[in-house]
Amino acid sequence: MPRSGSHMTHLSPSRIPSHVAIIMDGNGRWASARGLPRAMGHRKGVEALREAVRAASECGISYLTLFAFSSENWSRPEGEISDLMGLLRTFIRRDLAVLHRENVRIRVIGDRTTLASDILPLLLEAEETTQDNSGITLVIAFNYGARDEIVRAMRRLAGEVAAGRIDPEDITAGRIEAALDTAGIPDPDLIIRTSGEERLSNFLLWQAAYAELMFIPDFWPDFSRETFRAALARYAGRERRFGGLQPATTLAVGS
Ligand code: IPE
Ligand code: IPE
Ligand code: MG
Repeated sequence: MPRSGSHMTHLSPSRIPSHVAIIMDGNGRWASARGLPRAMGHRKGVEALREAVRAASECGISYLTLFAFSSENWSRPEGEISDLMGLLRTFIRRDLAVLHRENVRIRVIGDRTTLASDILPLLLEAEETTQDNSGITLVIAFNYGARDEIVRAMRRLAGEVAAGRIDPEDITAGRIEAALDTAGIPDPDLIIRTSGEERLSNFLLWQAAYAELMFIPDFWPDFSRETFRAALARYAGRERRFGGLQPATTLAVGS
């Protein structure tokens, strides 16, 4: 999605994260501050999401993971849950063709087994339609919780051991990674959370081992490409050491 690239000049390519993950938080408070129903905040949040995908793609990010609905969000009022499910449906129906045209590859992480029966085919369609695209990978975390993901992965590995296909000693960090929903996706370099809250709320707990964390005060609906670019500029100034003594900008854990 090339647009004006001129405002990119101050970011050195070697300091651009390969994977950015965002906890899109603050839709409800954005709406309340304006005397609007929370649903309006979620609706505006989808616009910010579109902008984030575009900004990430322009900046040369390879993977963008967006936390859209957590496994704990089921504890919200029924009406809000159905608003959020409705927004996912509309987003995929309206935006899939555009994202596909823009060469975006879509992956979905989270537990698919408890979703409404019409949502699963939409998610599968999004993944299948875009699987051969070579642009940015948009990872949508939907009905996602890191502990739930780890439990499902452990069950899978335990099943392999019980069936005699692997020994307990064969369980390595690599095998655990391959059993997670994020199999094949590199760990996030940068995790951004909007709305001023400073917690992970069960997001990518395994994968976040060496991620840079960034908490920004803006509510998610106010997130813009400028906010994104400012976050990348701050990230470029971070020194990553991965437990060693030398600063490293691109090394992944274990590599
Ligand atoms: C983030 O905004 C969207 C989801 C969690 C689905 P919130 O709905 O959490 O908004 P706040 O945090 O209540 O303001
Ligand atoms: C995290 O936000 C989940 C998403 C952004 C989808 P929450 O609003 O659910 O997190 P808590 O409850 O404030 O920790
Ligand atoms: Mg919230």
